[in-house]
Order: sequence, then structure tokens, then C-alpha cells
Amino acid sequence: MYNKFNESRDNITISSKNNFYENKEGGTVQRTAERNKSKVFAPGEIDSLTLRNRTIRSACFEGMCQHATPSETLIEHHRKVAAGGVGMTTVAYCAVSKDGAAFAHEMWMREEIVPILKKLTDAVHKEGAAASIQLAHCGFFASKAATGITPIGPSRKFCSYRYSFCRPMTTEDLNRVKEDFGKAALMAKKAGFDAVEIHAGHGYLLSQFLSPWTNSRTDEYGGPLENRVRYPASVIKQVRSVVGPDFPILVKMNLEDGFKGGLTVDESVEVAKRFEAEGASALVPSCGFTARTSLYMMRGHTPLTELVRSEKNPVAKMATFMFGRFLVKDYEFKEMFLFEQAKTIRAAVKIPVVYIGGILSVDNMNKAMNEGFEFVQIGRATVRDPNIINKMMSGEVTASDCDHCNRCIGEMAATGVFCTSEKKGLLKDS
Ligand SMILES: Cc1cc2nc3c(=O)[nH]c(=O)nc-3n(C[C@H](O)[C@H](O)[C@H](O)COP(=O)(O)O)c2cc1C
Ligand code: SF4
Repeated sequence: MYNKFNESRDNITISSKNNFYENKEGGTVQRTAERNKSKVFAPGEIDSLTLRNRTIRSACFEGMCQHATPSETLIEHHRKVAAGGVGMTTVAYCAVSKDGAAFAHEMWMREEIVPILKKLTDAVHKEGAAASIQLAHCGFFASKAATGITPIGPSRKFCSYRYSFCRPMTTEDLNRVKEDFGKAALMAKKAGFDAVEIHAGHGYLLSQFLSPWTNSRTDEYGGPLENRVRYPASVIKQVRSVVGPDFPILVKMNLEDGFKGGLTVDESVEVAKRFEAEGASALVPSCGFTARTSLYMMRGHTPLTELVRSEKNPVAKMATFMFGRFLVKDYEFKEMFLFEQAKTIRAAVKIPVVYIGGILSVDNMNKAMNEGFEFVQIGRATVRDPNIINKMMSGEVTASDCDHCNRCIGEMAATGVFCTSEKKGLLKDS
């Protein structure tokens, strides 16, 4: 089995047996993990891949792909996250085709960008972490201004996020997009990624098929759950058939959409089982629907000023300015806000389940490990400080002081993702 961790690099040698990274100064991540006795800092496996620890930077759209092409800034962004101690970093939202992009500066997968992505994965590997890339299609809320193409979705639907209608996907569209997912995964593998993450949550295309709110088809892809899951399941099957049996495929999916008439937790348990059966290596249960409950997946403060500033469409800009308070709802933030719901998925499948949602501290991560989650994904705490995992491992801090102000979300499309917080330093060990 090919394993890129069996390589030797300038400043790190990697044991072929356990894939632990050892630097020449003599410290090993494994020994550090033993020192602080937390399972989350011990290696973990997803299919053929062994991660040096169980922390994964979640996909957080970087806004660093001008002209749909990954930039040096994006490479440096992920190098820094990798150097900060995570087991794996996830490059956010890569559309599988041009018509699946939500913004003009969102990359879409094509041969032309494979060499740049290879530079990114090389930089991440050199820092001792693995790299994953999120593959997605945004369906009915694709930006016609960015793609020049009328958005497609499961059914004709007005999108209040774009102020436009999509057209329902034909059989030809269904086959083409499914194949695009497979091709994109293969190109990701060629670019040196250790895993791919299929986005089947957050109201993106695959999630639009799962949700009764966006899927009113009357064919074999609409109606009861067994029909609504058919298309996303076929995409996972296609990706598995293309990347081979051992290559890690994570699937980010919804526990619930977050509104009446959307996907429910009971249904998501069945979806999880089906995804496992079709070849998913690990599941990342999240929630929310970008075009309707955009902050539900994150919770916390609504960054209206930043959202208005970053909106390019003049109609949407005005509407967000005037009615944003009513259009974008606030959802209260709680640490580990998805914990109880995510446990139902943990109990339903055998493959690794990655806990995501409101992780701020080592205690939070331990709680997830104790409930049987094999990994954790962390978003904002790593945006706040890319070095947070190293600091937690060394005992310098036990928690992030990200205050879920969500201004980084308001800024990501305009300036590239960064923490806008004025606060200095992080919470010290008490
Ligand atoms: C700035 C920002 C950008 C995000 N972009 C994406 C994205 O492109 N894809 C995705 O699946 N989730 C995205 N998310 C959601 C996170 O991956 C994660 O699900 C959410 O923030 C909850 O995790 P946290 O509490 O650790 O931040 C984004 C979050 C933030 C803060
Ligand atoms: S801007 Fe900084 S403090 Fe605010 S949510 Fe983002 S990472 Fe956290």
C-alpha cells in the first residue's frame, strides 16, 4: 500500500511502522501526547491514513483563490495550520466544476491547478500534517455572475440568497456532476491530498437532494428518504470506485437542516448508514443550510456589518443592509453545540465519526473521545490561532479564546479568512 508518510524529508523522518513524525531536535509528537495523556493527541487512522493526532482543521472557506486558482497565500495559510500541530488540515470548498462555485474567487477542480495544489500538499506534509480537500457543488445557490451558467438544483427553486431561480437537473446533469465528483477526487489524489471530504451538508447540492425543502422531484430521486438519499449515495459510490478501496473519503453531512420542513436527525441516521454502505471512510455530522440558516452551523453573533461589506450583488447588499437582522438569524453559541445529536450518528455506524461544532478546549476534545468519536474537526479556534493545537499539547493553553463573534465569516469572501478579534493572547492555564 502506498503511504507517503514513509518518505524522508529535510527536517523530519517518519517511521514507516507507525507514521509518527520525529524531528531532528529529538522531540516526537507521540512523546508529547504521552506526556499530556490525552487520546486526542495520539495517532488515529482513517482507512490507510494514519494521522499524528486526532485533530483536523475543518473546512473554513479561505477566500484565497482569485480567478478560481489557489494562491501562494492559500499555500502559506495551510502550511501555518499544519505547523500549528493539527493531524490534518482541510482545504475548504473546491467546486467539482465551474458551475458549482458560489463565488468567482472559489477554486474549481481542473488539471491546470493540480501542480499548485501539489505545492500546497508538499508544504503541509513538510510540517508533519496530512492534507484533505473539500469537494462540493453548491447547486441552487451557485452564482450566475461568477459562473455565467444558470444554477442547477434538484428542483426549480427560488434562492433568496442569490435572488434567482435554478433549473432542475436532468439525467444528463446528474450523470455529469456525479462524474465530476469522481474526476475531482482523482485530481485531488494526484495533487498529493491524503483524503477528500465530500460536502453533503450545509445546504450544498447533495444536501439539497436530501432536504425536502429543496427537493420536490417526483422521480426516483425525490419523495421518501430512500429516494432523496439515492443521488448523494451514488456520488459517494462513484468517488469510491474512482479513488480505490483504501483512500480516505470523509463525508460532511447534516444532522438536521435547522428549520421545519428540512432534514431531521432521525433521517440523518439513515443517511449516515447509507453513506457508510456506499464507501464513506468517516462521517463529519454538522448542520445548517447556507441559503436559509447560514449561521446555524456555527452559532454565535451575526456579523452584519461585515456581511454587507462583502456582498457584491447590489440588490443583495441593499437587502442585507435593510433586512439583514430579519434575514440572518442569531443562534446561541454553546460549547459542543452538536454533541447530543452527533452521538446518534456515532451509535449508528461503525466507521470513524468526526465530532465538529463548538470545540474550544482540550476538555471538549476529551469529551468527544470519551464518547467514541475518533477525531475532532475544529474551525474557528484554528482561525483564531493556527498554532492552538501545539499550545494545547505543550500545556501552554487549555482553551481558545475565540468568542464566536463570527467576523471572520463576514470577512472571508472580501479579504481572505482571518481573525478580526482585537484581543491579544489566549487563555492561560488556570
Ligand atoms: C470562516 C469560516 C468559513 C467556513 N467555511 C466552510 C466551508 O467552506 N465548508 C464547510 O463545510 N464549512 C465551513 N465552515 C464551517 C466550519 O467548518 C464548521 O463546521 C463550523 O465553524 C463549526 O465548527 P467550529 O465551532 O469549530 O468553528 C466555515 C466556518 C468559518 C468560521
Ligand atoms: S473573528 Fe476570531 S474571535 Fe471572531 S469568530 Fe472568528 S476566529 Fe473567533
